[in-house]
Amino acid sequence: MDVTPDSPTLDSSTATEPARSTTMDALIIRGGRRLSGRVEISGAKNAALPMMAATLLAPGVHTLRNVPLLSDTRTMARVLEVLGARVELRGHACKIDTSNLTSVEAPYDLVRTMRASIYVLGPLLARMGAARVSLPGGCAWGPRPVNLHLEGLAAMGAALELDHGYIVGREVRLAGADFTFETVSVGATAQLMMAATLAAGTTTLGNVAIEPDITALAVALNACGARIEGVGSRTLTIHGVKGLRPLDTTIIPDRIEGATFLAAAAVTGSSITLERCDSGHMGAAIRTLEQQGCEILAGNAEVTITGPRRPAAVDVTTEPFPGFPTDMQAQIMSVCAIADGVSVIRDTIYLDRFTHVPELVRLGADVRMDGNIATVTGVERLQGAPVMATDIRASAALVLAALVAEGETRISRIYHLDRGYESLDQKLLKLGASVERIQE
Ligand code: EPU
Repeated sequence: MDVTPDSPTLDSSTATEPARSTTMDALIIRGGRRLSGRVEISGAKNAALPMMAATLLAPGVHTLRNVPLLSDTRTMARVLEVLGARVELRGHACKIDTSNLTSVEAPYDLVRTMRASIYVLGPLLARMGAARVSLPGGCAWGPRPVNLHLEGLAAMGAALELDHGYIVGREVRLAGADFTFETVSVGATAQLMMAATLAAGTTTLGNVAIEPDITALAVALNACGARIEGVGSRTLTIHGVKGLRPLDTTIIPDRIEGATFLAAAAVTGSSITLERCDSGHMGAAIRTLEQQGCEILAGNAEVTITGPRRPAAVDVTTEPFPGFPTDMQAQIMSVCAIADGVSVIRDTIYLDRFTHVPELVRLGADVRMDGNIATVTGVERLQGAPVMATDIRASAALVLAALVAEGETRISRIYHLDRGYESLDQKLLKLGASVERIQE
């Protein structure tokens, strides 16, 4: 249905489609083509997901623009609908009516497909005083605990219990607290920040994440009446307020998608321009690619890159923002795979996030693992082969390697890619790559 700007609630017929299943899709990529032209960067997945969850904090009709069309944002829309919200996705604009919540349960079937569903926990406790949210399990590359989310909420007075796989809170009245994260956590920072906006009193959060996604969330919440101080610093002071107005915000550009396209140019020795991106959010990736011999002209919302004939080797260690993102570790490994020399890549955020390595090796990469350290000896050429996508960024790494590999690469299980990249195949096709999506 149409939503007029002043309509207080959305019509009940606006349910979103369930997450599109692309389980059987594969990509066929014929490598060796140069890329050229311009590509538009979509809104950031990891900014959109907490922002969508934050709509639970305030009753009313929220407006989110530049929402990326991904299976993960569709899953979050489903989670909100199960809670009683009405969600309308029209193009990249999303209206979410959270006037009448009818449930506080985020079921296992949705949470198991997307861990970020846990973002609804804090907002539900803050607004409804109750929540029943499935505890996420491990993920493809190993354990991903949520202890910091739970400890922080407990410090704010939420007596949470584990009940048959669900995190359960009843009759919770959140109160301000001092909580310092032992590890920088993007998710736990967003979770506690959202919860604290409506808690009684003042919350101080120490050692918080300062990823652009977190800062954007804080700015958007403050614009609707939250009182979050220290935005962009490692300490947040949040004075609880009685209520918030609905969000009206535009999702920031996806820095990981942007950096993935920069890596695509680096690996293929191409020149392309990114549009609607934020170069300030991609600093670490840009500096690394420059060390590898790329020429990069960074404007404000546009970045032009020219890849070298052959990239140079580089050493990379992942760190919380503003360091090199773990979400680019797999993709930079594909660049290093064909680089001149030996690169050492260390992931300090996720020690086991290397499921792409055996698949890259199938394409001819020379990678030796020692714990969380990959030593990549660049080879002159990769060869196409059938490979399997295992998670979002591992899939992207395989796409990059395939773009430069000789012959044909078939990447199966690309539903992982569709979770986090909007139309990656279409965007690459427009840049001149030979990419075909098939049903297996
Ligand atoms: N950690 C804990 N306990 C917790 C939470 C985190 O020990 O309660 C640890 C993690 O095991 C990890 C570190 O803290 O070692 C950082 O994890 P973080 O909480 O920051 O990760 P996240 O919030 O679960 C988000 C992104 C990930 C991205 C990480 C790190 C979203 C929806 N997800 O996850 O994105 O890798 O931050 O930057 O924002 C992706 O997009 O492909 C992706 C996996």
